[in-house]
Order: sequence, then C-alpha cells, then structure tokens
Amino acid sequence: MDITSIRKKAIDAVASSSDLQGLEIVYKSFLGKSGELNILLKTLGSLPADERREAGQSLNLLKKEIEVICSKKQIELVNSDAENKLQNERIDVTLPGVKKEKGRLHPVTQTIHSISDFFGSLGFEVADGPEVETDYYNFEALNVPADHPAKDMHDTFYLGNGSLLRTHTSPVQIRTMEQQEPPLRIICPGRVYRKDSDLTHTPMFHQIEGLVLEEGASFAQLKGLLNDFLTDFFGQEVELRFRPSYFPFTEPSAEVDIRWKKGWLEILGCGMVHPNVLEMAGIDTKKYSGFAFGLGAERMAMLKYDIPDLRAFFENDHRFLKQF
Ligand code: DAH
Repeated sequence: MDITSIRKKAIDAVASSSDLQGLEIVYKSFLGKSGELNILLKTLGSLPADERREAGQSLNLLKKEIEVICSKKQIELVNSDAENKLQNERIDVTLPGVKKEKGRLHPVTQTIHSISDFFGSLGFEVADGPEVETDYYNFEALNVPADHPAKDMHDTFYLGNGSLLRTHTSPVQIRTMEQQEPPLRIICPGRVYRKDSDLTHTPMFHQIEGLVLEEGASFAQLKGLLNDFLTDFFGQEVELRFRPSYFPFTEPSAEVDIRWKKGWLEILGCGMVHPNVLEMAGIDTKKYSGFAFGLGAERMAMLKYDIPDLRAFFENDHRFLKQF
C-alpha cells in the first residue's frame, strides 16, 4: 500500500484547488464514503495481522492530515473570496442616486379632463359608449343616409360581423337618449377611429361630444355656451365665427372658427339636433329640442399648447410628454 504517493497526491490536489467547490470535490475523492482512503481501509483485512496494525495507524494519520490541510485551504479560500469581493465591488458613494421618474397625465387626457371639468360645472354629466359600434348607432340613428360618403370602406373600419369602430362620439347621444329621460346635459369624451393617416390625421383620436336636450333649447344658448367654453379653455377672450355647414344629424348645422394668428381656424361642429334623430331615439319633439357639438381633443390640445405635429401625442417620448 503506497501511502506516501496518496499523501503527495492529496497535498497537490488540495493546493491546486482554486475555489470552494473544487476543494469539496478533492475532499470527497479522498475522504468521502467511496474516497481513496476508505477503499484502502476496506482492504486492510486482507493484510497479515502485524502489518495490518501499522497500516491502519498510518491510514488514520493520513486521514487526519488531509482533513487539516483541507480545512486550512477552506479558510484560505473563504478569505480570498471576501478579499476579491472587497476589491471588485467597491461602492462609490460619490455617485449620484438613481432618480425615480414621476408619472403624469398625457396632455390629451389633461385636455379632456379640463373640458369635462368646465362642462361639469354647468351641470353636464359624463356619458360613455362602446368603441365597437353598430351601423345603426354610428350612422342610421344619426340620420346618416345609406349612401353617405362617410360610410365608405375608405373611411370606416368595418369589423366584418356587422359591427364597426365608431367614427365619432355622436352615437353616445343616441344611446343616452334611449336610456335616460330628458332634460339631458351630457358630455361624451372617447376614442374614435378613421382610416386616415398623415401629418394631421391619425387612425385613432379623441373626440368630445356635447348634447343638451331640454324644453326650449335654442341655437342662441348653443352660441353662448360655446363662447363661454372656448374663453375658459384658452384662458382669454376668443373671437368666434359660426359658419353654416352640414351634418346629417343637425339642422341647422354650423362649424365654429376661432380667430387664430391673423386668420380663422375651424375648431368644432355643432347644430340643433335633427328632429329625425330625436324621433328615432323616442323623444317627444313637440316638447323637447336639443343642440349638440363635437370637437377633437388632440386638435384642442395642439392649439392650447402650440404643438405643430399631431404625431407627437402618440410617440410616447418622455421628453415631449414631461413638458405638460
Ligand atoms: N360627429 C361630427 C364629426 O365627427 C362632429 C359633430 C358635428 C358632432 C356636429 C356634433 C355636431 O354633435 O352637432 O365630425
């Protein structure tokens, strides 16, 4: 039995272990259950009695020796590990901290909130409707004839099962009139969709619809209301121009322009709700009349904050959004 060569082998193996895992493997290969020393111990029985004693003692001594050098090596490795960490993981306390970004509301959301707040203060309630609409609510109930150009596949996203993505927030007028008794004052902000994409159009944008339905509602009230609203929104007196226009769901209809940088700028559509629309929604037209208006939230935000490019609202660039 060559104890000397096993001893040398063990000392070399321990010395060349470079980490704790490696050392563990070396330890087991000598002192583990099926390690070299145990295998040797098992062969002792086959030796003559006088040699057996001596060999047994030497093996036990070697066992202790290997245990000692292993634990010394272990301490060494643990220490150098800690030393390495200290060397490599220096904390530079002079580095600036990581700033937590604060969230904020999107400028279009802020615009919708401020418009809803203004109308809310006049007793308007916020009404809501589905973005996936039927042809009936989006067009037919709004007195839009079957051959109206807006119904063209080029302008409307049809979903294939008879439904479509609403092209305006006007259907919310119909849904509300069907569900609630007049008098009504509602404002309906929401997403609308059109097949349109260029510098000033995006396939999805936000509209805000307004509807007043009560006894004696008049065009004069509509004019006064829009004047107050736009003055509040822009924070200064604005000059308005009501231009005769056409919408299937209002009669008479008008487009409103505001004076803007030496010219006129179209800002919203409005009118007296068409009697056909009221009748289809089951409203007594002898008793009630109504007026309505619709405007684009992005457009209002662009004017208020002087933003030249509509696409900036949809790019999610923090540097842009942080300014509001
Ligand atoms: N629905 C119209 C559009 O999308 C906007 C509009 C115009 C709404 C006149 C109205 C209105 O309620 O009276 O262009």
